[in-house]
Amino acid sequence: MKILSGIQPSGQLHIGNYFGMMQTMIAHMESDDLYVFIVDLHALTSVRDPARLATGTLEAAADFLALGLDPDKCTFWVQSDVPEVCELTWVLSTLAPMGLIERCHSYKDKVAKGIVPSHGLFSYPVLMAADILLYQADQVPVGKDQKQHLEVARDLAIKFNNQYGDTFVVPEPSISETMAIVPGLDGQKMSKSYGNTIPIFMEGKELKKRVMAIETDATPVDEPKDPEKCNLYKIMQLFASPARMQEIHGLYVNGGAAYGYLKLELLDLLNDKFGQAREKKQQYLSDPAMLREILAKGAEKARAKAVVTLDLVRSRVGLKY
Ligand code: ADP
Ligand code: TRP
Repeated sequence: MKILSGIQPSGQLHIGNYFGMMQTMIAHMESDDLYVFIVDLHALTSVRDPARLATGTLEAAADFLALGLDPDKCTFWVQSDVPEVCELTWVLSTLAPMGLIERCHSYKDKVAKGIVPSHGLFSYPVLMAADILLYQADQVPVGKDQKQHLEVARDLAIKFNNQYGDTFVVPEPSISETMAIVPGLDGQKMSKSYGNTIPIFMEGKELKKRVMAIETDATPVDEPKDPEKCNLYKIMQLFASPARMQEIHGLYVNGGAAYGYLKLELLDLLNDKFGQAREKKQQYLSDPAMLREILAKGAEKARAKAVVTLDLVRSRVGLKY
C-alpha cells in the first residue's frame, strides 16, 4: 500500500504532530511503500522570514530522522525539490470548483488568526491535492484537522478521472480516532500557530515551564474531578502506561489527583520518551551537508515517480501536441 503524508516546516514540531502524524508514518515504514515529505511550499503561505523557512525545513528533516525514520526504507524529501507538483497544482486548479475551495474552513481559520489572506493561502488545498495525487497515494495519515483537505483531494481525483479518463488513485484518509486531536496547554487544538505547544525536542527548564503551564481547573486535590474535561489528563494518556492511567483515573474520580505532581510525572515521561531522539537530532543538525544529501537522494526517488504521473496528466488534458 502506498502511504503518503507531509508536514509544514513552519515552527517547532510538537507532540500533536507526533501523535497525529509522525508516529503513524514511522510505523508504516517496514510494511508499506512510504512517502514522507516536508511541505515548504505550503509553509510559504505563512512564513515570511527566508532564514526561518530554510532552517525550519532542515530541522523538520532532522526531527523525522531522529525519531526513527529511515530514508533507505521510504521516500523522504522536500516538496519544492520536485517542481512537477506546481504544474499539477495548476492543472487541478483549472478543475477545482470555487465553491469547493471556498468551503474549506482552514483558510478562514488562518485568516482569523492573522495570517495574511493570499491567493496561495486560499488555494492551499489544491497544492495539497497535487501532493497526494502526483504520487498516486492510497492512504494519507493525518490528524482530524486535515480531513476536509483530503476530501478536496478525493473530489479533484474523481472529477479529473470523470473528465479525462482513469488517471488518479482516489486516496483514503487514515485518521486515528483515538488520537484525533491532541489538546494544547490551553485546551484548544495543539498547534504551532496557537503558541500552546509542547515541542517534541524541547528540554530542561524550558520544557518544565511548558508542562507546568498546562491549564487545569481550581478544584482542590481531595475533590473528585472529571478526567474527560481535563487537559492534563488527556495529555498524560498519550504517555503513561494503561495500568498507570487506570490509577490516575481513580485519583480523578475519587479525589486525590494533585495537578502539580502529575505534571512532574508527565515531565519525566516526556524525557523518557524523547531523550534519546534529542541526542540524535543534535547529531543530524551538526552535519547539514549530510542532511541535504539525504534529502537530495529522496527528491530524486520522488521525482522519478512524479514525472510518470505528470506525463500521463499532460497527455490526458492535451498539453502534449
Ligand atoms: P500545526 O497546526 O501545528 O501547524 P500542521 O498543520 O503542520 O500542525 O500539522 C501537521 C500534521 O500534524 C497534520 O497531519 C496534522 O493533522 C497533525 N496535527 C497537528 N496538530 C495536531 C494535534 N493537535 N493533534 C493531532 N494531530 C495534529
Ligand atoms: N496541509 C497539511 C498540514 O498542514 C500538510 C500537507 C501538505 C499534507 N501536503 C500534504 C499532508 C499531503 C498530507 C498529504 O498538516
